[in-house]
Amino acid sequence: MEKIVITIDGWSSCGKSTLAKQLAKELGYVYIDSGAMYRSITLYFLRYHIDWTNKAAVAKALKNIVLEFHHNEKTGESEIFLNGENVEYLIRDLVIAEKVSDIATIKEVRGFAVTEQQKMGKKKGIVMDGRDIGTTVFPDAALKIFMTADIAVRVERRFKEMFEKNPNITIEEVKNNLEMRDYIDSNREVSPLRKAADAIVLDNTHISMEQQLKFALNLLNY
Ligand code: DC
Repeated sequence: MEKIVITIDGWSSCGKSTLAKQLAKELGYVYIDSGAMYRSITLYFLRYHIDWTNKAAVAKALKNIVLEFHHNEKTGESEIFLNGENVEYLIRDLVIAEKVSDIATIKEVRGFAVTEQQKMGKKKGIVMDGRDIGTTVFPDAALKIFMTADIAVRVERRFKEMFEKNPNITIEEVKNNLEMRDYIDSNREVSPLRKAADAIVLDNTHISMEQQLKFALNLLNY
């Protein structure tokens, strides 16, 4: 089968990465987590106290950032490296989640990330998830999925995930963070979160992981 580009966009914590990983595994494609790129940029800005309201400071900082994905043989997962350091674990912290949407509104940051993402998709055979992948990054992608799920289900899923790492986290904190990010992500000026006109909606509130994979594979007649 000819390799294509598959895009998965949608709200925070509605299972985009789970579906993207399932599809990549099934099809032998590369999975790219575009959110991890915005999170890694956020980590860099926080670490080096970059004033992201200052355009020159942002431009200078972006010149010093190299982002790469490497396949982890042990876990079978793809992990992000920031200037050679594996930051896959660090970027999942709530401190990053609280700032990432703001940083992802910056035009220069988006320009940097989108250029890198487009390079990664040149050879096709990728599944990329995010917020603007079907609208801005790969508007010509052969399959676009837009995912959604009820907020209560999304909060519960993300809470479980974060609680494993940080037992002090509360449901309220997780809920507030998801709602804030959804708001900022869908209201920003540059490439806001939107369903592409030709994207197919997948609401996974009441379906299992197996069912969601089946749904996506059906779309490919696979
Ligand atoms: O998918 P995620 O929750 O890891 O993404 C973190 C943030 O990054 C998200 O709240 C908004 C931003 N993001 C974006 O603006 N565009 C993308 N394509 C992916 C993520």
